[in-house]
Amino acid sequence: MNFKILTILSVLAMMGISCTADRLPLYKDASAPVEKRVEDLLRRMTLEEKVGQMNQYVGLEHIRKNEAALTEEELKNNTANAFYPGFNADSVAGWTRQGLVGSFLHVVTIEEANYLQSLALESRLAIPLIFGIDAIHGNANAPDNTVYPTNIGLACTFDTDLAYRIARETAAEMRAMNMHWTFNPNVEVARDPRWGRVGETFGEDPYLVSLMGAATVEGYQGDLSSDDVLACIKHFAGGSQPINGTNGSPTDLSERTIREVFFPPFEAGVEAGAMSLMTAHNELNGIPCHSNKWLMEDVARGEWGFKGFIVSDWMDIEHIHDLHATAENLKEAFYQSIMAGMDMHMHGVYWNEYVCGLVREGRIPERRIDESVRRILEMKFRLGLFEHPYADEGKTMEVRLCDEHRQTALEAARKSVVLLKNDGLLPLAPEKFRRVLVTGINADDHNILGDWSAEQKPENVVTVLEGLKAVSPQTDFVFVDQGWNPRKMTRSQVDKAAALARTSDLNIVVAGEYMYRGRWTERTSGEDTDRSDIGLVGLQNELIRKVAASGKPTVLVLVSGRPLGVEWAAEHLPALVNAWEPGMYGGQAVAEILYGKVNPSGKLAVTMPRSAGQVQMIYNHKPSQYFHPYSGTPSTPLYPFGYGLSYNRYEYSDLKLDKTEISSGDSVKVMVTVKNAGTMYGEEIVQLYIRDRFSSVTRPVKELKDFARVSLAPGESKTVEFAVTAEKLSFLDMNFRPVVEPGEFIVMAGSSSADEDLLKTSFHVR
Ligand code: BGC
Repeated sequence: MNFKILTILSVLAMMGISCTADRLPLYKDASAPVEKRVEDLLRRMTLEEKVGQMNQYVGLEHIRKNEAALTEEELKNNTANAFYPGFNADSVAGWTRQGLVGSFLHVVTIEEANYLQSLALESRLAIPLIFGIDAIHGNANAPDNTVYPTNIGLACTFDTDLAYRIARETAAEMRAMNMHWTFNPNVEVARDPRWGRVGETFGEDPYLVSLMGAATVEGYQGDLSSDDVLACIKHFAGGSQPINGTNGSPTDLSERTIREVFFPPFEAGVEAGAMSLMTAHNELNGIPCHSNKWLMEDVARGEWGFKGFIVSDWMDIEHIHDLHATAENLKEAFYQSIMAGMDMHMHGVYWNEYVCGLVREGRIPERRIDESVRRILEMKFRLGLFEHPYADEGKTMEVRLCDEHRQTALEAARKSVVLLKNDGLLPLAPEKFRRVLVTGINADDHNILGDWSAEQKPENVVTVLEGLKAVSPQTDFVFVDQGWNPRKMTRSQVDKAAALARTSDLNIVVAGEYMYRGRWTERTSGEDTDRSDIGLVGLQNELIRKVAASGKPTVLVLVSGRPLGVEWAAEHLPALVNAWEPGMYGGQAVAEILYGKVNPSGKLAVTMPRSAGQVQMIYNHKPSQYFHPYSGTPSTPLYPFGYGLSYNRYEYSDLKLDKTEISSGDSVKVMVTVKNAGTMYGEEIVQLYIRDRFSSVTRPVKELKDFARVSLAPGESKTVEFAVTAEKLSFLDMNFRPVVEPGEFIVMAGSSSADEDLLKTSFHVR
C-alpha cells in the first residue's frame, strides 16, 4: 500500500469513517458517545442535507386533505392550511427520500409516521425524522389517545405531581405512535382573557406557571431516551399580553415586565432541562420574535444556558417578510432568523433553496448551520431514533387509552373543576330534585375535550349529560338541545327549555365557549379565536335568565378555555361551576361534583374579571392600579386568582414565623394551620403570598410564593410549613440585578389571593 493511500485511510479512520463494508459507520453505533456520533454524521453530510435537517413539513395526509377539500384560492389565502404552491404531497415525499427533510408535524396516525420514517430511511444517510405534534393535553390532537384537561384546568389543580404524571403518560402514548416531540408546555403568563389561547396556558401567575411548566418538561423528557419525548417551551415571548388581545398582535412590554413576569417560566423550563423552544408570533417592542437575537441568543442561550434547539412557529419566519415587513423578501427573512439564532423552520418549501444559497454566497457561515444541525441531531440520537425509528402498529393500543391513563384523566378532571358559588344547593340531593332540566351548548357535546383535540370516539368521551345520567340514575333528566354553535342558537329552543324549566325541580345549564378545532371558523375560543368581549356568546345569557325565571334552582356550569364575565349569573344563580376544558372524562367529573361524590378542590389559576373593560385585571398588580377606581362599576374581579370553594369550610389559624427578623440571604419558615371544619373528605390548596412593603422599585401588592395541596379528613387539622428563601424575596433592582432589600415583608396565607381570605403577619430583613 503506498503512503498516499495509507494517509487517506488513517485520516478516514481518525474521522471515524470506516472503509470496510461490514463495519457500521460510527454514527450508527449505538454504543458510541452521542457527541461523537453527531460529529461523525455531520462530517458526512452535504450542505443540502444539513439545511434539510433544519426544515419541517406538515404530514402528507394533511396536505392531501387540504388539496382535496379546499380550492386553490382558499389554500392561497389561508396560511393555516400548509399550502406549498407548485408542489404537492408527492414532492414532499420525494424530498424525504432524498434526506432533505428533518422533521414533520401534523402527522396524526402511526401508519403515516412509520411510512414517512421508511422514506427517510431510504435516504443516503438514513437519518430518521423527528415527529412533532401539539400534544398539549395528552396527545389529543391525534385520535384514540387519552385526553386530559387543558393546561388552564390542570393549573387549577395546583398539583405539580399530577402535571408530571400526565406528561409521562403523554410521552408513552406519543412514543407508542412514533411521535417524539410535543409543542408543549406553553409557559406563557396569561394576562388578557380576550386572547383565545388562555386555555393552553397555566394561567396568570409566573410562579405557578413556572412550577407546572417545569414539572411538565420533566415528565415528557425523563432522561431523554427512547421512552421519552422532547418538550418545547413556547412561545418566546410576550404573546400572552398582546396590545389588543388578539393572537400575534404586537407586544409592547418594558424590559422590567418581560423579566419579572414573562421570562421566569421560560427560565424554569430551561432549568428543568427543556431541549426545544418555540419563538412567538408577535413582535416584541418592535422586533419580530423570530428575528430577535436578544431573545434567542443573548437571553435563552447566553443568560440561561439553553442547550437545545429553537423552532419557529407556523409560517412566522415568512411573516418577518410578509407581515412585520422587516425583511424585504423571504430569503432575507430566513437570513435574519438564522442569524438571530433560529435552528428549525416550521415549515415550507423555499427553505432549502434559499438557505443553501445564503451559505454559498458567504452570507451565512456554514459553521452557523452546523451549530443548528448539531443541536437537532443530538436530540435524534438521545431520543434513540436511530435505534428505534418505528413504533409497533400491533402494540400501539396497549399503551394509548390504557386504564391507568384514563384514571389519571378522570383524576385530573375532578381536581380541575372550580366551584365558584354555592348557596347551599350543592351537592344535589337526588331525592329532592327528581326531574332535572339539562340544557346549554356544552351539555351533551364533545367540546369538553377542549382546544387542541381531534375528534375522539364517543365511547372515549363522557359528556356532562352522560355523566349526570351515570352518576344519578334515579333522576329524570330532561334534555333540551341548544346545538353546539352558540351563534346559531334559536329562540324557539331557548323558549322550550324555559317552558320545561317550569315543570322541573332543578335546572342545569352547561354554557360557555366552543373550542373544537374541526370547526375552526365557528369557534368562540382557542387559538386565533380572540374576542373583544368576555361575556357569553349568542343567546346563552337569555337562556340562563329565562330558565332561572322559572323560579326553580338553576346551576350554571361553564366549559371554556378563557375566564368568562358571567356577572349576572354569579349574582342571581345559587350555584356556579367552572369546568374549564376538562377533557374526556369532564362530564363524569362535573356530575360527580354536582352530586357530591367528589368534593371540589380546584382553585382559579387566573382572575375572572367581570368584563373585558376591566382588563388588565390580575391579582399581582402594582399598588397604584386601583388608586382611582372605575367610576360607576366595581374595580374588583368577579372571582379572584386562587379562589375556589369546596363542600367543606376550611379554617385557617396560627400563622407563625420562626423568626421575625433575618439578614438578607436568610430564609424564614412560615407555618399555618388548616382545619377541615366540614363533614366530607377534602383537599385544600393552601396558598402563601408575600409583599415587599417598601422597595426601590414598585412591587406587586402580593405575589404567590408557595402553595400546598393538603388532604384533610373531616375534623382533621394540619400545619403546613413553607420556606421563604432569599430567592423568593428578591426582585430586580433598577439595574436588573436580583436584590433582597432590607425592610418589612408581609406574609399572607390562606385559601385565595383575596385579602379577606388571608391571614397576615410580617418580618423584617435587616
Ligand atoms: C401555534 C403553535 C403550534 C403550531 C403547530 C401554531 O399556529 O402557534 O403553538 O405549535 O401552530 O401546530
